[in-house]
This record gives sequence, structure tokens and C-alpha cells, in this order.
Amino acid sequence: PVIAVLNGPNLNLLGERDPHAYGTVTLPEIEKLCHTAADRLGYDLDFRQTNHEGVLVDAIHELRHRAAGVVVNAAALSHTSVGLRDALAVVDGPVVEVHLSNIHRREAFRHHSYVAEVADGIVTGCGARGYAMAVEHVAHLADERIG
Ligand code: DQA
Repeated sequence: PVIAVLNGPNLNLLGERDPHAYGTVTLPEIEKLCHTAADRLGYDLDFRQTNHEGVLVDAIHELRHRAAGVVVNAAALSHTSVGLRDALAVVDGPVVEVHLSNIHRREAFRHHSYVAEVADGIVTGCGARGYAMAVEHVAHLADERIG
């Protein structure tokens, strides 16, 4: 079984982008953390990043019956995209939202997430480790459903 980890716009720039908010960890390093977490739980990992809303929606459609669970950091699209929210609503497996920063401690426009409305859980403000936590939780929820 596979856990998908989907990343939205600008997350390819982690490491150089706003280290005060996001730390210095890079996306390849986050992928490694996710890989280790998935591996330990007996899951394969499908890790993706795109700067394009439609590409993310297409990826969710492709994965919706195939992924045991989905972890998503939709980045700025979390705060803007009803289309992304509607795509995530048709995913068969559990969905866990993740943000590196604590979106509730930042600007008001980051406080609302459309993704949160269709997520089984949210990890926000735990940095790169939050991704491993999200993978672990989505695997736990998927295991329960397969049960
Ligand atoms: C983010 C938070 C978003 O508000 C922001 O647009 C991002 C990254 C995070 O991981 O903390 O790009 O999703």
C-alpha cells in the first residue's frame, strides 16, 4: 500500500525561502523523513511537489482510489482553493493536512484553510517533523479502516 505526500506551490524553495517561518530543511530532506516513517509502518511513499493547482487536483484524482492515505501541504492553496478542497473530499482514504509553520500564529489570511474542512487531522507548526507525524497518523487511520 502507498501513502501519498503532496506539496503545493513554493515548497520546492524550502531551505532558501523564509527560514524564520520554515526553517532551513529542504524538500528532499523532508522526503527522506517521510520515506523513513512510511517504511517503518510498511507503506510505500509517493512524494510529489507542484506549483500548479490543476496539477495537484489531477494528482489527487489519480490517487483517490489508489492511495491508502494522503498527507497534503497545499501551501498557499490551502487558503484559496475550493477546487483543491473539493478534490480532496473525494479521496477514499484518510487525509491529513500538514504545515511546517503554525498557520494560526501568522497573518490572518493564513488562519483559514479550505483543506482543513476535509481533513481527518491537521499538524501545524511542528516543522519538518510534522510531516513524519502526519505520515504516521495517516498510516494509523488507514490501518484502522483496513482493520
Ligand atoms: C505553509 C503555510 C502557508 O500559509 C504558506 O503559504 C506556505 C507554507 C507551511 O507549510 O507552513 O507556503 O503551508
